[in-house]
Amino acid sequence: MKPISLTNKEQATADKELQADLADQGEIPDHIAIIMDGNGRWAQNRGNLRAYGHKAGVNSVRDITEACAQIGVKYLTLYAFSTENWGRPKIEVNALMHLMARSLRKEAQNLKENNIKLQTIGQVDRFPKKCQRELREAILCTKENDGLHLCLALSYSGRWDITEAVKKISQRVKEGDIEPDEIDDETISAHLSTARIPDPELIIRTSGEYRLSNFLLWQLAYSELYITETYWPDFRRNELYKAIQSFQERDRRFGEISENNTKESMNLSVQELTS
Ligand code: IPE
Ligand code: IPE
Ligand code: MG
Repeated sequence: MKPISLTNKEQATADKELQADLADQGEIPDHIAIIMDGNGRWAQNRGNLRAYGHKAGVNSVRDITEACAQIGVKYLTLYAFSTENWGRPKIEVNALMHLMARSLRKEAQNLKENNIKLQTIGQVDRFPKKCQRELREAILCTKENDGLHLCLALSYSGRWDITEAVKKISQRVKEGDIEPDEIDDETISAHLSTARIPDPELIIRTSGEYRLSNFLLWQLAYSELYITETYWPDFRRNELYKAIQSFQERDRRFGEISENNTKESMNLSVQELTS
């Protein structure tokens, strides 16, 4: 059967309908975090160099960012380069840095026009000067925006984040600014690189790997996990909508019990429970 081909206008209308359905079905997460994985395998499966996959992955970043802005997601955090990724061959690291600088230059205006505010977490000062310059310019260019917050995790790792928070808190204890007994969950959250960002409700990992790879270790404590076999360069908005749909079907209990069960257990006497 011949596939139905839609014009751009028809496609945009179909997309708006899908987005409206999604919003009607349930809550759209405020914060989605994504481990964008599988670029290398996507390229190698096509007989191409891994760098080709990274390049193709930029199109997914654009599409997912745009879709998140349209459906009202407030924060999107993308794991773009981990602390451990510095251990890859120099040629791949260089290709990634080059691609990042180029994409930032190309996309900054687009982000501005879509009311998207760019920010970063991680050790950006480890990046080449050119990348740092492009990042600064893109952040500056979008600083007045108040729509979607796009947060790029660059040279980031969860353990690095927690270690830095511990150092900052220790310093405050040393200066007598805070008592050790006063340190709680909120103190730690407030000293992480994500201090002003709520924890993600949904974490997506592409390419079928079932691990966190040192991403947002503290912040993901109660995030819903969604793992898809799809490689990042093939992950587009329809897949994102599927992930959100799956999120909407979850019963988020946070260690407690769901409402129906609460009613049931209220009718139980202590005696019934212990006999
Ligand atoms: C994710 O894709 C991009 C980065 C980690 C920078 P990979 O490069 O890890 O691709 P695979 O997982 O090897 O296929
Ligand atoms: C995680 O992917 C890091 C990013 C997506 C930036 P990796 O490909 O580096 O993770 P591992 O090696 O499979 O755990
Ligand atoms: Mg990988």
